[in-house]
Amino acid sequence: MKFFIDTANLDQIKEAQDLGVLDGVTTNPSLMAKEGITGDANVTAHYKAICDIVDDNVSAEVIATTFDEIIKEGEALAALNPKIVVKVPMIKDGVKAIKYFTSKGIKTNCTLIFSPGQALLAAKAGATYVSPFLGRLDDISTDGLQLIEDIRLIFDNYGYPTQILAASIRGPLHIVACAKLGADVITAPLSAITALLKHPLTDSGLATFLADHKKAAGL
Ligand code: E4P
Repeated sequence: MKFFIDTANLDQIKEAQDLGVLDGVTTNPSLMAKEGITGDANVTAHYKAICDIVDDNVSAEVIATTFDEIIKEGEALAALNPKIVVKVPMIKDGVKAIKYFTSKGIKTNCTLIFSPGQALLAAKAGATYVSPFLGRLDDISTDGLQLIEDIRLIFDNYGYPTQILAASIRGPLHIVACAKLGADVITAPLSAITALLKHPLTDSGLATFLADHKKAAGL
């Protein structure tokens, strides 16, 4: 399973990259705004800076919502760096644009997926990734993990190569559940990724090992 970090914060991206387990980054307009990145030139520079840190897979989201504008914006984003994956919303013109980008060899991430039918349409259009937002479904008392399971079944039934990128992850248990369900990728905040490191028995076990070693060595 690939690990992406869901942030536009360069320090957090560097920290995840240093951990040695990072496969990519997802951003969105809200995450860019949270870092105070505004204006085309700054946004472009920020995507380039992210690409300089990670090895591959930097999702950059289009703001446009009409076919012609999505194509224009997406092609400009893709031209920034071969690591860029153009993130396109699940709307009618978005699906048409994904089909176009696929024909041009441009990687895409279809975002804001909340139903199996939406994922199926994006896969038919040739999306590289679909991003089901499981946390936002959980937030409205709907089973987000069930959506991951349904999409996995559908993609496996027909052998769609589109990868399931589980998004809107809230914590470490979401990551483990997605791994059990066969998601191809998770994108999560740094806190959810580093929380996977933690177990109280690891901490107490290590403390005992180190204390025993010190005692045996007469230190
Ligand atoms: C995915 O690509 C989105 O950026 C993200 O996972 C949305 O998560 P949120 O529901 O925490 O905003």
